[in-house]
Amino acid sequence: MASPSRSGAFEVNVEKSVEKFTESISFDHRLYKQDITGSIAHAEMLAEQGIISAEESDLIAHHLREIESEIESGKFEFQMAFEDVHMNIEHALIERIGDVGRKLHTGRSRNDQVSTDQRLWIREQIDSLVGQLVSLQKSLVDFAEREQSTIIPAYTHMQRAQPVLAAHYLLAFCEKFERDRGRLEDCRRRVNQCSLGTAALAGTSLAIDRDLVARKLQFERLVANSLDSSSDRDYVIEFVFCLSLIATHLSTLAEDWIIWSTTEFDFIELPQAFCTGSSIMPQKINPDVMELIRGKTARVIGALQTLFVLTKGLPMSYNRDLQEDKPALFDAYETVSACLDLTNQVVAGSRLKADSIAQGIEQGYLDATSLMEYLIKKGMPQRKAHHLIGTVVRHAMQTGKQLNEIPIEQYREMDADFDEQIYSVLGVENAVAAFVSDGSTAPNKVAQAIEDWKTRLA
Ligand code: ARG
Repeated sequence: MASPSRSGAFEVNVEKSVEKFTESISFDHRLYKQDITGSIAHAEMLAEQGIISAEESDLIAHHLREIESEIESGKFEFQMAFEDVHMNIEHALIERIGDVGRKLHTGRSRNDQVSTDQRLWIREQIDSLVGQLVSLQKSLVDFAEREQSTIIPAYTHMQRAQPVLAAHYLLAFCEKFERDRGRLEDCRRRVNQCSLGTAALAGTSLAIDRDLVARKLQFERLVANSLDSSSDRDYVIEFVFCLSLIATHLSTLAEDWIIWSTTEFDFIELPQAFCTGSSIMPQKINPDVMELIRGKTARVIGALQTLFVLTKGLPMSYNRDLQEDKPALFDAYETVSACLDLTNQVVAGSRLKADSIAQGIEQGYLDATSLMEYLIKKGMPQRKAHHLIGTVVRHAMQTGKQLNEIPIEQYREMDADFDEQIYSVLGVENAVAAFVSDGSTAPNKVAQAIEDWKTRLA
C-alpha cells in the first residue's frame, strides 16, 4: 500500500533517496505513546459526536493499545516507508482493521497531530525534570547541612574576595535550580494547550468537539487559532530555553568543582566513580563527568539556536522544516536529564576537604572588608575606611602578616581610630560571624535557609 502521504494527488513512486531524506521515524518514534493516547481521545470524540460509531471507536482504541504494547515489547517494526510515527501507527492500524482504521484520521491532520504529540511529550518531560531538580536540590541541602561550619573563600574575578560558609555557596545553587523549576512550571502552562482539532491549518467543517478532546488529554485549554496552531513551535523553543538555563547552571557548578578538585585548590574530593583515569599517566584522576556536563551544555544551547534559526524565516503556517525541531528537542531533553541525574550523584558523593581549605583560608585578606565595615560602624566615611584598609593590607603584605597578626600599636600608627576591638572581626571565623544582612552568609541566616529549604522540599 502506498504511504498515506503519497496518496491523494500523487501518482509517482517515491525515490529511495527521498524516502531516506524525508523520514523522521528514526527519531520521532519517541512520540509513539503520545500519538496513541491522542488518537484514542480523538476517536472517542468522533464517536461521541456521532461521526463514527462507538463500536468503531472501541475497535480503534483496542488495536491502538495492542500496537502500543507491541512497540513497548520491541515486537513492532517501524518502517521508513511510512515516514513518521503518525503514519507508521496509522498504517499498522489499517492493516489490522481496514476501513475502520481509515476513519481515524477524520477531522485531523498530521499538522495538529504532531503538535499535540509534542505538547503531551514535553508536558511529561517537564514533570519528570521538576522531580529531578527537586532531588538535586535535596542533595545540595544535605551537602549544605553536612558543611554547615566549613568556611570557604568566595571569589569575584577569580580573586579571593570574602569568606562564606560552604553551605551558603551550595544553597546559591538551590536558588538557581528553584528558578529553573519555576520557569519549567511556567512554560508548562503554555505547553499544556490542545492543538488537536485545528486540522491542517484552517480547522474542519466536520462537527468535532475540541473541548472534549482537550479534557480527555488533560489539556488546560485550546490553542485558540488554527493557523497559529499548525505554524508555531514557540512552546518547543521555550522548553529548550528552560533546558539551556538548567544546563548553564549545571555547567557553572561543574566548572567550580573541576577547579576545586585540582591540586592547586584541593577543596573537594569528587566521587571516584565519576572520574576516569588517564591512559598514560597512572597517577591521574580526571573529573571527566563534570567536564562533560560542562561540555554537553554546548549541545543544549546549540539546540536552542537550531530551533530559532529553524523557525525564524518560516511563512505561515505548517512547513516541513518543522520536522527538524525534533532532533534538537529530544537531544536537549535527554542531555539535560542525564546531566541532572549525574550531577545529583556527584553532589551526593562529594566531600569538601575541610582541612585543606582551612590551611589556606587566611590567605588573601578575606577579612579586609569586615575590618573596613567595622570602621564604618564606628563612624568613618566609607571612602576613607576603604583607603585606610588599603594601607593596612599593603603593610600586611610587606611584613608577611595576616591582618589579625598586626599588633595594635602598628594599627594605631596607621590611624589613631583603631582600637583592640578590631580583632573581634578579624580572621575568617569572625568575619563570617559579623555578617547580618538578609541573604548574606551570616551563620544564623544560613542555618535558617537550610531549615526553610528542608521544609520547602519535603
Ligand atoms: N513528521 C512531520 C513533522 O514532524 C509531521 C507533520 C507532517 N505534515 C505534513 N503536512 N507533511 O513535522
